[in-house]
Amino acid sequence: MESQNSSQAAILTVQDLHKTYRDGEAFAEVLKGISFSVDPGEFVAIQGPSGAGKSTLLNLLGALDKPDSGKIVIDGLELTAQIKHKTVDVFRRDKIGFIFQNHYLMQEFTVVENVMLPLRAQGVVYAEAKEKAAKILKRIGLDHRMNHFPSQISGGESQRVAVARAVVKNPPLILADEPTGNLDSDNRQRFIDVLNTLQAEDKLTIIVVTHESELAMAASRRLMMRDGKIV
Ligand SMILES: Nc1ncnc2c1ncn2[C@@H]1O[C@H](COP(=O)(O)OP(=O)(O)OP(=O)(O)O)[C@@H](O)[C@H]1O
Ligand SMILES: [Mg+2]
Repeated sequence: MESQNSSQAAILTVQDLHKTYRDGEAFAEVLKGISFSVDPGEFVAIQGPSGAGKSTLLNLLGALDKPDSGKIVIDGLELTAQIKHKTVDVFRRDKIGFIFQNHYLMQEFTVVENVMLPLRAQGVVYAEAKEKAAKILKRIGLDHRMNHFPSQISGGESQRVAVARAVVKNPPLILADEPTGNLDSDNRQRFIDVLNTLQAEDKLTIIVVTHESELAMAASRRLMMRDGKIV
């Protein structure tokens, strides 16, 4: 996918982002002017105390929610408040790979079918999608689990399948929110190894929100958020 923003190398630019949650009379200013940019192939960890606004920021970057003001440009596309629903759907489909704390694998589909889903959504034909999904599962050592259902594999394996599903379409940006939050130390290390390997080999651009120092240390850059700001 070619960036339309040739004057700038960054894959992501965030400028003066503000977000306030309102609930009737009450309101909470959660993002108080966030600015940063990320270059292609960077692996960035966002750390900070609970309530700092990390998930809020990630949700805005993934167009799951909208900022009150400020600018987000990802791979040449600006996520404005006026953006059409359909454009947002296509943006999420083509530009973002998500990894959440829970794997959210679809129980009625096998492992390989789960990994195929993002490609099928893009219109890739079944055989080609299956080949690509199988290839990435093999790279992360899960080819022997391909035809199992999510209920038949472990939590650690499920979370590594979620990585495969996020990267299979080779999106310009991967967003992960506490992806190791539910893993024991052994599976946490395996998850980090898988992410590291794919990131290095495929030059993936990753932003991960994490409390875990091991995962943060795997990143090439660390940003600290506190009270709605990057400090
Ligand atoms: N949908 C919402 N409506 C109202 N307030 C919200 C909403 N989502 C988050 N908040 C509030 O915004 C603040 C920041 O939340 P956020 O989830 O971004 O923090 P976080 O840094 O991800 O924290 P944690 O490390 O615990 O996941 C918190 O005070 C939270 O209660
Ligand atoms: Mg959070």
